[in-house]
Amino acid sequence: MIKPDAVENGHIGNILAMITDAGFKIVSLKLTQLTVADAKEFYAVHKERPFYDELVTFMSRGPIVAAILEKDNAIEDFRTLIGATNPAEAAEGTIRKKYATSIGENAVHGSDSDENAAIESAFHFAGREQF
Ligand code: CMP
Repeated sequence: MIKPDAVENGHIGNILAMITDAGFKIVSLKLTQLTVADAKEFYAVHKERPFYDELVTFMSRGPIVAAILEKDNAIEDFRTLIGATNPAEAAEGTIRKKYATSIGENAVHGSDSDENAAIESAFHFAGREQF
């Protein structure tokens, strides 16, 4: 996902260009907005964390871009491309270093495993939207 902060700040095009330049194929893509209930469900794994309410409010406050990406070694390579959760710790040249504003408003989300990528893909896209 490209998160609400990066969409608000006009970074959709630049972030998608960084993703395709890094060799990812976009197989699904949409601009959409999560409801509060959607954001709660998507981040349910974090519901006991102190930042959960803040995260749900943030993720539902404006449009996001959802995408399914394909590449060899995609999970690891995408996490390298986006950089550390906290932009202050993200490496130079990463998406979060360039476009994130804080540990919470950190511009992008990437799935952390193939299993979660399948779950998160089904959350955002119907089968006929996956190419
Ligand atoms: P993401 O990779 O989408 O996964 C969980 C999200 O929780 C994370 O990016 C941040 O947006 C948010 N997050 C993680 N740690 C914190 C924190 N300490 N304070 C606020 N938000 C956080």
